[in-house]
Amino acid sequence: MSKCKVIAVANQKGGVGKTTTTANVAIGLARNGQEVLVVDFDPQGDLTASLGWKNNDALENTVSTMLDDYINDKEIHYPSLILTHSEDVDVIPANIELADFEMRLVSVINREHVLRSCLEPLRNRYDYILIDCTLL
Ligand SMILES: Nc1ncnc2c1ncn2[C@@H]1O[C@H](COP(=O)(O)OP(=O)(O)OP(=O)(O)O)[C@@H](O)[C@H]1O
Ligand SMILES: [Mg+2]
Repeated sequence: MSKCKVIAVANQKGGVGKTTTTANVAIGLARNGQEVLVVDFDPQGDLTASLGWKNNDALENTVSTMLDDYINDKEIHYPSLILTHSEDVDVIPANIELADFEMRLVSVINREHVLRSCLEPLRNRYDYILIDCTLL
């Protein structure tokens, strides 16, 4: 069984420190020798930008590409998707393309499990996967 802990950082209120918490907890865990992946799940892409990818709209592969591949039965190419931050934290970035994803998921069966399924193959690589959520 995978020892990976997957933690969603979520709150109904905006601007309460979700992104800041995700980044700092991730970096703290990595400094303690844990293998950490953060997933930016907010179309604002603040986590991606705060970790150094300021021009995130130029990124070809993001969390929305990953979800898109999954729902279209395409193979997800994780190596081109996952970025590595200098603090030894891996990052699945996001940009504005995630904004309309909810609409595209409407007709997908088991849509509430899509992100879980996409992350499943990564669970044996990481001790922690932290997801920076958008507003609920
Ligand atoms: N513990 C803290 N103490 C003081 N300021 C903080 C703290 N955590 C975050 N902030 C500040 O609060 C602001 C909002 O933080 P952050 O972007 O992390 O919130 P968020 O919940 O991710 O926002 P959003 O809902 O837009 O995604 C930022 O300016 C950040 O620097
Ligand atoms: Mg945020």
